[in-house]
Amino acid sequence: MKEININELQNPEYVLVGNKKMPLNDLINEYIDLKRVNKKAIRKYLQEQELKPYQAELIKLQKYLEDNQKRMIVLFEGRDAAGKGGTIRRIVRYMNEKHYRVVALGKPSDVQKTQWYFQRYVEQLPHGGEVVLFDRSWYNRAMVEPVFGFCTPEQYETFMQEVPMFEKSLVMEGSILVKIYLSISKEEQAKRFEKRRRDPLRQWKLSEIDLQAQDKWDEFTEMKYKMLKATHTHFAPWTVIRSDNKHLARLNAMKVILNAVDYPDRNEELDYVPDEGIVVSGAREIE
Ligand code: ADP
Ligand code: AMP
Ligand code: MLT
Repeated sequence: MKEININELQNPEYVLVGNKKMPLNDLINEYIDLKRVNKKAIRKYLQEQELKPYQAELIKLQKYLEDNQKRMIVLFEGRDAAGKGGTIRRIVRYMNEKHYRVVALGKPSDVQKTQWYFQRYVEQLPHGGEVVLFDRSWYNRAMVEPVFGFCTPEQYETFMQEVPMFEKSLVMEGSILVKIYLSISKEEQAKRFEKRRRDPLRQWKLSEIDLQAQDKWDEFTEMKYKMLKATHTHFAPWTVIRSDNKHLARLNAMKVILNAVDYPDRNEELDYVPDEGIVVSGAREIE
């Protein structure tokens, strides 16, 4: 085989399959003949396309934050496999990397354990012009930690009392705070774990904590309701998004974020009304 020329490889009309350079059009035709282009792939493609105009709006939102030196915090909570990571990836997909950060903190270090509980999260909060997306947040102490015994009952109680004050301070000083809880059913979580077990691209996501999520389902449910009850406030409300359908969850998360900021030049042709049945106020969830 002739030596591969890097410049040719970057020609979008060719792709590398193994170590063989193949003309893209031939491959596409071959796939169509073999019926390997299936409905699932087309559906996925069209769904990603549907997100694009909203992703364009998110760029405008980000520009507004930057121009006005506003701080924005979007935090994502939800059980394991609820789709937090995938949703965040699509939200930031076309954003300017200089002005956003995704924060997914691991378990606290020994030193962090001796600090004020909020300290390591406070260190990650945005400066003016920046949006920070939390993939899990200080709310670890409202669900994962008490369910697994990583904090004492006293620490939990103290935390639950502190949260509204902490968040009130953030909001009073001008931060835009959006709290999203992605909600999945027990059956859907089981399916997603099974997929993670089988798929080499997803196995890394399967943690020790995940393995117990199904057994501890009811404990998590109880903690979730306690969390919503104590921390859904008028200045920092929860938005619950039903996430068994990943695409609708992602689309609606974008709508919720876009509705939280009054940025200029909004594309008025888009529908920003969250889907009823997918997006629920935290207040309604606990009725
Ligand atoms: P994720 O679902 O976010 O990928 P895991 O399922 O491993 O991660 O853990 C869930 C959450 O529990 C993470 O935020 C992690 O930091 C936290 N966690 C795990 N172990 C501990 C621990 N020993 N003490 C406190 N928090 C922990
Ligand atoms: P999660 O929200 O991820 O903790 O999962 C809770 C499960 O209960 C999911 O199946 C939800 O769809 C369901 N659920 C919880 N609250 C409600 C509610 N208020 N109305 C309908 N279904 C709910
Ligand atoms: C999710 O899918 O909700 C998270 O981003 C990943 C996880 O559950 O570990």
